[in-house]
Amino acid sequence: MNLLVIGSGGREHALCWALSASPLVTKLVCAPGNPGIGQVAKLAPVNPTDLDAVLQLCRDEHIDFVVVGPEAPLVAGLVDHLEAAGFACFGPTKSAARLEGSKGFMKDLCAKYGIPTAAYGRFRDAASAEAFIRKHGAPIVVKADGLAAGKGVTVAMTLEEALAANAALFSEPGAEVVIEEFLDGEEVSFFALVDGRNALALASAQDHKRVGDGDTGPNTGGMGAYSPAPALTAALRQEVMDRIILPTVNGMIAEGAPFKGVLFAGLMLTKDGPKLLEYNTRFGDPECQTLMLRLKSDLLPALMAARDGVLKDFDLRWRDDTALCVVMAAEGYPGEPRKGTVIEGLDAAAAEPDVQVFHAGTAQRADGAIVANGGRVLGVCAFGPSVRAAQQRAYAAVDKIRWPGGFCRRDIGWRAMAREQQ
Ligand code: AMP
Ligand code: GLY
Repeated sequence: MNLLVIGSGGREHALCWALSASPLVTKLVCAPGNPGIGQVAKLAPVNPTDLDAVLQLCRDEHIDFVVVGPEAPLVAGLVDHLEAAGFACFGPTKSAARLEGSKGFMKDLCAKYGIPTAAYGRFRDAASAEAFIRKHGAPIVVKADGLAAGKGVTVAMTLEEALAANAALFSEPGAEVVIEEFLDGEEVSFFALVDGRNALALASAQDHKRVGDGDTGPNTGGMGAYSPAPALTAALRQEVMDRIILPTVNGMIAEGAPFKGVLFAGLMLTKDGPKLLEYNTRFGDPECQTLMLRLKSDLLPALMAARDGVLKDFDLRWRDDTALCVVMAAEGYPGEPRKGTVIEGLDAAAAEPDVQVFHAGTAQRADGAIVANGGRVLGVCAFGPSVRAAQQRAYAAVDKIRWPGGFCRRDIGWRAMAREQQ
């Protein structure tokens, strides 16, 4: 089969790496990809949100199946566009991608179908939003309605912070804002493959969202991750499937927008049980990197079964080991990252035992050098029989990488290690 993967991050490198091992694949193309992906796939310099250009690529490369990685092309309707032209795609339609594309849509769905989530209000004018904030007081959470690459959310610990965030969002014309009750607890990522009607839970994972050690500083797209997430016990996983994932899948059918693809629930484990923070309609990054390392089964048949609506009774096998990913980011991230700094030692890092280095925001210069070309630049991943062992291997590899323009957290996995020591 000829396969096209859409995207250019660490998630897409991990997906391409896994898919390139499938005996079903004869040709693997990635648009636009990155230099790491170029080692396992043919790169096509096509913009994922240019729907016609992607369609033309499918025709030119005789593509049989498309896997869409990031949210922007999903929300832009890439799956609808390609499917209408006869190309089979893994990923939700534009209408189903509203679960991620509109926080207001997601919250209203939860309210309608009794899915546990934070209490909320939805606002189109600054004054009513401000009155709501003053009524409920801090801590409180202020969110932009649309996609904001993880940066449209302010968890305000004071009233002043909440009011400032609200004013900033409403300084944009046409703004829509969701204001939410603050939930306290441990945050985990839950992934399920969905075929419209049936859901198959994937292995659990947890990421570190804050930029600094000890989970401090501003939020990012994720500075590291590990799988499994020991906080998600088997009983909790069942509860999440029964109370959150399946009611959502059924709710989307009832709304006339059946969901196919990966449903990624960001959950808060509160003292009142798991509650939904947000939905994403794609794999998490860097969580996906750890999942792909642990997956023993062929990924492609599972993605095709989700697209074809035949996921029922499907099973996937996972390695028992822990996989852990340390994200290396360019200085300046999550603000303005510095581009063009040279990265050396990648081969030495990849030669460490049980290590896999995935590229995200990298570029290759004419002289062959790998340089930083984005915020999150590398995912240095490792396996181990425990979280501690995986962490040691990952940092041994990180220490082989010579990149003065980059940084990483030194404590990825600390919560899970604290649990291991109990
Ligand atoms: P979101 O994009 O909605 O997941 O928000 C980004 C991050 O903000 C989440 O991963 C949480 O760390 C935090 N967050 C979002 N909503 C809440 C909430 N209601 N209570 C506490 N923290 C939240
Ligand atoms: N790591 C969280 C995300 O992909 O949004």
